[in-house]
Amino acid sequence: MVIGKGYGKTILFGEHFVVYGLPAIASALGSYTTATIRVLEGSGWSVNDQRLATPGYKEKKYDEAMQSVRNVINHLNINTEDQRLEITFAGDLIAASGVGASAAQCTSLARALNNLFNLNLDDEKINEAAYEGEKAYHGTPSGIDNTASTYGGLIWFVKNLKEGKNTMDLLQAPKRMPLVIANSGITASTAEVVAAVRHLKEDNPDKFKKIFNQYEKLAYKAKEALLKGDITNIGSLMNQNHELLQEITVSGEVNDKLVKIALKKGAIGAKMTGTGRGGLVIALAENEKIQEMIVQSIEKAGYNAWKTMIG
Ligand code: MEV
Repeated sequence: MVIGKGYGKTILFGEHFVVYGLPAIASALGSYTTATIRVLEGSGWSVNDQRLATPGYKEKKYDEAMQSVRNVINHLNINTEDQRLEITFAGDLIAASGVGASAAQCTSLARALNNLFNLNLDDEKINEAAYEGEKAYHGTPSGIDNTASTYGGLIWFVKNLKEGKNTMDLLQAPKRMPLVIANSGITASTAEVVAAVRHLKEDNPDKFKKIFNQYEKLAYKAKEALLKGDITNIGSLMNQNHELLQEITVSGEVNDKLVKIALKKGAIGAKMTGTGRGGLVIALAENEKIQEMIVQSIEKAGYNAWKTMIG
């Protein structure tokens, strides 16, 4: 039996904008998905998905998940005619919209296949294989999720819209900062939400041009603030980023409600993260005491929340 790992991620700045070549910043999470593979007699492959998940998540994403496994296996030219692969996904990453669960699954599978068949793939090739898997979730992934999942750490990411490599820089913040991740419990379809943004952009080119310009300036300021560990500025920029995401209609009622609860409890900044229209919200706290207070008030409102550190 051979195991591979893929980390979850949270997008601190720039979901959706990143699809159009604007810079985004993501942080890998300490939690990860594991893929364990057993080789049996026969042919084909099967999946045993033991990941903990938001209720309904695995059912809603089932077809996409199966296609992503197929994509990774095909991309790596794995022979499944003369052997049968039994793939088990598990790990401590709770599968939910917004946490990079699909990318973590693809990355863990690419790593497990690499280990099992001694493919000698470096991280770049693992990332490429995971990206092929991600395509099953929506046709035009930016690649930020699989990149964060493969490399870990805090990353500055710019998708190359032409043929060629994406930009990926590892950022080092001078200190670790407490973050709350709150779960709306709603599973969104990345394909649907990304397509909705594309239509809106096509119908409102001037509006989007203005928003994209505003966002781009914000992204560079956010990078600077993170590099300085300027938590006040990071929080304020998160709030501004959330407003821009509201303008492109990807936030949702529960996302906005969770953002409000977090800010009321003293978060320095809060925003939806990932696909939106459900999924997750992140809130930055000045210290661990405030972080705990935010978690408690979100739980009191009936939602799950957990703590992590970024930087
Ligand atoms: C999903 O985690 C992030 C999106 O920006 C899509 C993508 O980057 O491929 C919504």
